[in-house]
Amino acid sequence: MSVRSPLITIMTRTAEKAARSLKRDFGEVENLQVSRKGPSDFVSTADLKAEKIIREELAKSHPEFGFHGEESGAKEGEEKGTRWIVDPLDGTTNFLHGLPHFAVSIALEKDGQIVAGVVYDPMKDEMFYAEKGEGAFLNDRRLRASSRVRLDGTIAATGTPFKGRGDRAPFLHEINAVMANTAGIRRWGAAALDLAYVAAGRYDSYWERGLSAWDVAAGVLIAQEAGAVVSDINGKAFDVWKSESILTANIDLQPRMVKLFKDALARVK
Ligand code: IPD
Ligand code: CA
Ligand code: CA
Repeated sequence: MSVRSPLITIMTRTAEKAARSLKRDFGEVENLQVSRKGPSDFVSTADLKAEKIIREELAKSHPEFGFHGEESGAKEGEEKGTRWIVDPLDGTTNFLHGLPHFAVSIALEKDGQIVAGVVYDPMKDEMFYAEKGEGAFLNDRRLRASSRVRLDGTIAATGTPFKGRGDRAPFLHEINAVMANTAGIRRWGAAALDLAYVAAGRYDSYWERGLSAWDVAAGVLIAQEAGAVVSDINGKAFDVWKSESILTANIDLQPRMVKLFKDALARVK
């Protein structure tokens, strides 16, 4: 069992407070005001309320830190180079359809490095967290990524393009290759949890294109601290702000997945 640091304690308690608001709203989804950010991209009053709770709660302990939230954007703090990166509700489309699979994601970035991350699933009461160099945990039990290396025994997770988001052409070649070589694919609709599930060894790999920093910042650290490798789909170093794709798997499986996608996309050209 791990003993949570003061920083992780602040982050997990904040995630739990926002989650209480989300769970209340989840029970009355039909009464929520929903607006459209883009084609098939929605934000609800639940997202906005949760982000306000998180921003105010974190400011109580660290008013000097900056804050970058999916819904309220960036606000620099007095301590330059230190900011929270927050997705108050990852899995909004699931949430609005009454699908109980979504999470609160809170990361802390210092001088360009993610140093702490929390991903909390309120419906399953699963608290994933990590601090840089300190390991990854689920409800205070240490996590390790899977050790499966034969592709045909692995499960891959992904995020699929949808109306108005993503490029279907390369994706169809990627998913075709993964279907032909693995034990199956999952698309559960919350990138932060997809990364946390790789850390927990539930998924053996996960890839997606077109994510934002707030979707992945916490989950990337949790996966890395559980022993997974995180890169872009070409195997290049991953940057939460700049990379256009993400691929994570255990250290032996990762190069096999990079080759699988490289060969699949080479057949397109
Ligand atoms: C979305 C989820 C989804 C991913 C989308 C994200 P949101 O986050 O993480 O799994 O495929 O690209 O936008 O919009 O529900 O916070
Ligand atoms: Ca998200
Ligand atoms: Ca969100």
